[in-house]
Amino acid sequence: MRQFPASPITALIDEKPRYNLGESVAPDLTVAELLGSAGLADLAGVKLGYGTSAGSSELRALVAARHEIAGSQVLITTGAAAALFLVALLVGDGEILIGRPCYPPAFDAVQGLGARAVTVTSWFEDGYRIDLDAFAAKLSSRTRLVSVASPQNPSGVAFRQDEIEWMLAAMSRTCPEALLLIDETYREATYGDAVPAATFAGMSPRVLTCGSLSKAHGAPGLRIGWFEGGIAWIPPALQDAEHVLASYQHMLDHPLEHDIQYYWDTHMSASFMVDPLGLRLIEQIGVDKVMWASDYPHPDGVWPNSLKAVERQMQDLSPEMRQKLTHDNAARLYGLA
Ligand SMILES: Cc1ncc(COP(=O)(O)O)c(C=O)c1O
Repeated sequence: MRQFPASPITALIDEKPRYNLGESVAPDLTVAELLGSAGLADLAGVKLGYGTSAGSSELRALVAARHEIAGSQVLITTGAAAALFLVALLVGDGEILIGRPCYPPAFDAVQGLGARAVTVTSWFEDGYRIDLDAFAAKLSSRTRLVSVASPQNPSGVAFRQDEIEWMLAAMSRTCPEALLLIDETYREATYGDAVPAATFAGMSPRVLTCGSLSKAHGAPGLRIGWFEGGIAWIPPALQDAEHVLASYQHMLDHPLEHDIQYYWDTHMSASFMVDPLGLRLIEQIGVDKVMWASDYPHPDGVWPNSLKAVERQMQDLSPEMRQKLTHDNAARLYGLA
C-alpha cells in the first residue's frame, strides 16, 4: 500500500509541541472575537446539511469574482493542502515537475501518490528566481503537471507574468497536455497596505491556481508586550492618549474603531521589576495585563535575588494575584498556557 511520507510540518499541527518557540503568529482569535455579537447571530442561523460537491455556489461566486473568472472554474477545498493533493491525484503515476524548495507537503503529496517527481531547484545565489533554461531542460513529453508556488515558500519570491508566459510556451512545445499549477497561498499576504499581485488564475486554460484563507486571512490576535519600563506609567499614558485622540481625531485618515482603553485591554501587557507605585495601581491597569520580570542579566536587575524581590513586593497581594503576575499572564502572552 502506498503511504505518504511522514511530514515534520504536518506533525506540528497533529502533535502540538508544548512549547513552540518557533511559532511566529500570535494566539488565534475566537469566532466570537472575530465576528462580534451581530456576526455570531448570523452564524447561528446557518443551516447544517449537505452542500454541493464543488462547494457552496455562493462562496464559489465570491472567489470567482475576486479572481475575475467564472464560478464554474472554482472548486472549494479544505485548505490549499487538499487542493495540492487533489491535483497530484489527477496526474496519477504520471510525471510532475516541481519547483524546489517548496512547501514540503506539496512534494510529499507527489511522492505519496506514486507520481514520478522531477525537480527544478532555485537557489539563494540567484535570488530564488527560477532558471528558465534549467526548467525547460527538465520538461519531457511525459510531464503531466508543473507545480510551483507564487510567492514561493520559503523565499517569498513571486513569479513575474513574463516568466509564467515563458514557461507555458516551453510546455506547449514539449508537453502540450500538461497543466501548470501555481500555488498562490501567500499571494494576498502582503505587508501593510501593499496591494496583492494579480492572480495567474484565468491566464490560460492550462493554468490552475490554488489559494488559501490560512495565511492571508487567518485570524491571529495582535499582542504587544511593553518590557523593562515598569507599569506605573500606564494609567497616565492611557489618559493622555484618550485626550490626544479626542483633540485630533478629526485629522485622522482612519478613525479609530474603539476607544484607547479597548486597545490596551485586548492587545497589550507590560512587565515590571520593582514598581511599588505601579502595584498600587494594579486594579486600574488590569491584573491580567501585568508580568513580573527580573531583567536578567542587566546590572540593575534583581537576579540572583529574584525570589526575595518578588516576596517583598507582593506580600500584600492575594496568592491568586501573585500567581497571575509571576506565571499565568506571561504564559498566556507567549502562548505557553
Ligand atoms: C506554499 C503553501 N501552500 C499551501 C499551504 C497549505 O495551506 P492551507 O493551510 O490552506 O492548507 C502552505 C502552508 O504553509 C504553504 O506554505
